[in-house]
Amino acid sequence: MATTSRIAIVGAGNVGATAAYALMLRGLFAEIVLIDQTPERAAAEATDIADANAIAQPVRIWAGDYADVTDASILVITAGAATKAGEPRTAIAGKSAVIVRDCVRQAMEAGFDGILVVASNPADVMTQVAQAMSGLPSERVIGTGTLLDSNRFRKRIADQLSVAPGALEALVLGEHGDSEVMAYSTVRIGGMELETYLAGQSFDRPAIAHDVMRAGYTIAEGKGYTSFGVATAIARICEAIHRDERVILPVSTMLRGQYGIEGIYLSLPCLIGAGGVLRILTPALAADEQTALLASADILRQTLQAAG
Ligand code: LAC
Repeated sequence: MATTSRIAIVGAGNVGATAAYALMLRGLFAEIVLIDQTPERAAAEATDIADANAIAQPVRIWAGDYADVTDASILVITAGAATKAGEPRTAIAGKSAVIVRDCVRQAMEAGFDGILVVASNPADVMTQVAQAMSGLPSERVIGTGTLLDSNRFRKRIADQLSVAPGALEALVLGEHGDSEVMAYSTVRIGGMELETYLAGQSFDRPAIAHDVMRAGYTIAEGKGYTSFGVATAIARICEAIHRDERVILPVSTMLRGQYGIEGIYLSLPCLIGAGGVLRILTPALAADEQTALLASADILRQTLQAAG
């Protein structure tokens, strides 16, 4: 295991650079290494972020290469293919898998022995590809998964209820993508279930489900890509690992029999600490949610097979 306070990010595109920026603002790591197939791009992003040093956090950030990964405690992978407008994330599985495998191979050859956090899309399949390539135990290979979708879910529920998103719990489970499961049965507001809290107040579940599932597409229609939401999810996962927080976050992890699902990466609530995923939680779900979770696992299995 690495002894330095160093994190490395492979892929200095919109997501990787924004994650680096978010991590810098949190001041968690003394060193942030940006690696990109276009070193000039990584260097420009590193310099731009370092320009904030004097009035933000004194992080050392630079454009590096895989030799710099050896001493990193966390390696974040954001490199991959980009979806075209309206294209599902699963459509780029084959192309992204080639890129992710190559990144992981180079990192392992450089002696990386920390925790891998994968954000490349399709996130669950790419995390599984990365885990297989790395040979690391699955608890040390984590996908950003539905942390982002759960944040979107909480925000939209909170807006309808006029409460703060942080005041409620709500989980999106399964794929980070079109088959994701809005698990309304997990919603808690001050310990109350949603129906009880609503006490007859009108609430538009289908609109929220549609909005959350389409959020990535809608944002990409407006700005061409998404970055801040997923980058903040990356930073939050890295923070939880770095501080050994033992917080529960919905992230993509290898299932081993939970809900009858075996050997597939998808999101369930996980206990996160310095060792990665310390425990996978299995909340009681409604029957339709369980069915939808199994369907999501099937889609991911098919996508994984198709990605080679
Ligand atoms: C999104 C991308 C990260 O949903 O898939 O914003």
